[in-house]
Amino acid sequence: MEKILKNFFLFLSKNRFFTKLAKRYGLRFGAGRFVAGETIEAAVQTIKELNDKGMSVTIDHLGEFIDSRSEAVAAAEECMEAIRAIADNKLDSQLSLKLTSMGMDIADDLVMDNMRRILDVAEEKDVFVTIDMEDFERCEKTLEIFKKLREDYDHIGTVLQSYLYRTEEDIKALNAYSPNLRLVKGAYKESAKVAFPEKKDVDENLKNIIRIHFMNGNYTAVASHDDAIIDYTKQLVAEKKIPNDRFEFQMLYGIRVDRQEELVKEGYKVRVYVPYGNDWYGYFMRRLAERPANVAFVLKGVFGK
Ligand code: FDA
Repeated sequence: MEKILKNFFLFLSKNRFFTKLAKRYGLRFGAGRFVAGETIEAAVQTIKELNDKGMSVTIDHLGEFIDSRSEAVAAAEECMEAIRAIADNKLDSQLSLKLTSMGMDIADDLVMDNMRRILDVAEEKDVFVTIDMEDFERCEKTLEIFKKLREDYDHIGTVLQSYLYRTEEDIKALNAYSPNLRLVKGAYKESAKVAFPEKKDVDENLKNIIRIHFMNGNYTAVASHDDAIIDYTKQLVAEKKIPNDRFEFQMLYGIRVDRQEELVKEGYKVRVYVPYGNDWYGYFMRRLAERPANVAFVLKGVFGK
């Protein structure tokens, strides 16, 4: 049953009709538990609250299925506005973005131009930018773009997903770029041709790539809500005497908040991924797919408290 629900929500997350509908009707149906609000002002307020609790943040202006050059340019403008808001409000926050929002599926010059404009502002304002990883189809191109940009910019990192067979090779190949990487299990529906179908293999491979990346001496963001992964990381850094300023834990806004607070109390750096914007539908569906039990929260949101 869990698997059926997971596939159902992943199917919905890719549906353009529902995405457009959700955009029109705003943040309802319980998505507010995972999304900071529709505007940068709402996001700034949320970042302040998290910073006050000792947590760092990365904000993500939600946007999927960009169809035109003008939409991609507008999304890039949103990113620049977010970077300026972070700097102006002296917030402890980075920015995360998706290359499809920047026009990756439309034209190479468009995505590169948008990224360079964003990174020029990011370097000037000293705000780090992470390129989220999307589905397998876009992985190769995302890494190519990351490598090109990394040659010219310091304030840029990306994400690798442990469910892909290729990731161990990618992490080794990327070492030449001394990358700051976020390591995750992976959130998209992928075929067994390219991704481990069994969860236990995905979990094992996440531990594997965490170890490789740490041993390469690169900055590591371990992004998982899984206690086994968090405990593995704690044990590894203790064993290898890796200082706390060489890694961080990352979790999503609204998920396992108690665990986030505990880690801060224990002295670890914790970064919360805070999405905002009106294009929240695909993100929300992927969170439901990860844990269909969250549907209970959604129903509560719809049918009252
Ligand atoms: P797993 O799914 O195994 O869950 C372990 C435990 O965590 C569960 O038993 C439950 O207790 C808790 N939990 C997990 N999800 C929950 C939820 N939705 N609600 C409540 N509890 C939950 N993916 C991607 O493909 N590209 C990307 O760029 C990113 N970026 C990213 C950034 C950050 C900061 C995070 C934390 C995650 C991502 N992801 C991602 C998503 C990632 O790939 C993965 O889908 C989720 O993190 C879920 O996997 P976990 O490692 O948390 O463990």
